[in-house]
Amino acid sequence: MQRKLIFLASLQLQNANLVTNLAESERRDGFVTTPFDVDTLTELHKGTRAFVACVDNCVIGYAMTGTLQEFQHSALIVHMNSRLQQITFHGLPIDAASALQYGPVCIDKEFRGRGVLQSLFKVLCQHLNSDFKIGVTFISTLNPRSYQAHVWKLGMTIVDEFEFTGKEYYTLASVLAQETSKMK
Ligand SMILES: CC(C)(COP(=O)(O)OP(=O)(O)OC[C@H]1O[C@@H](n2cnc3c(N)ncnc32)[C@H](O)[C@@H]1OP(=O)(O)O)[C@@H](O)C(=O)NCCC(=O)NCCS
Repeated sequence: MQRKLIFLASLQLQNANLVTNLAESERRDGFVTTPFDVDTLTELHKGTRAFVACVDNCVIGYAMTGTLQEFQHSALIVHMNSRLQQITFHGLPIDAASALQYGPVCIDKEFRGRGVLQSLFKVLCQHLNSDFKIGVTFISTLNPRSYQAHVWKLGMTIVDEFEFTGKEYYTLASVLAQETSKMK
């Protein structure tokens, strides 16, 4: 599939799961907090750092990644990243040289609970762990499904908790080279 088509399909999946597009009752299966648009994606992903899962030529899952410098499009991410300077993880600073921003991630409803997230994450780690030692992401405290999936199934570690515009979030990190061995 062409890159632009992949982005458009990913954005369709994003918009169907965007927190502002979901009713309260629908949010229990997770939601995307920080939207991308096609221009931002195109600008960000001149390299190969968007990972998608496809079935029958349809995008059924995606994981976005970028450097800490690249991910400046959201005030929430900028705030999270400003706090990383005080944190070390496995003895390493979480800075632009060592850390990669992971997320947003989204799996189509029909394909959740089937290991798509683990597969996407595994491929992402394999591609990026020679350039980046650590992956960082954030999860809303109101998204227990994502918490469960990332902490218990991918083996990510909570390294920070913060509040932004009245909402609370966890920051999670993982050592990309080790991550696949910790997955359940
Ligand atoms: C978050 C997401 C990527 C996880 O992928 P997934 O395929 O659904 O993950 P899994 O089903 O393998 O794992 C989720 C776990 O949470 C559990 N779970 C489901 N709903 C839950 C809830 N409301 N509270 C707590 N745990 C819950 C599941 O039972 C499962 O655990 P188990 O396999 O031990 O039973 C996917 O649900 C998704 O895309 N949601 C919408 C967008 C989103 O939230 N993105 C993440 C933003 S940070």
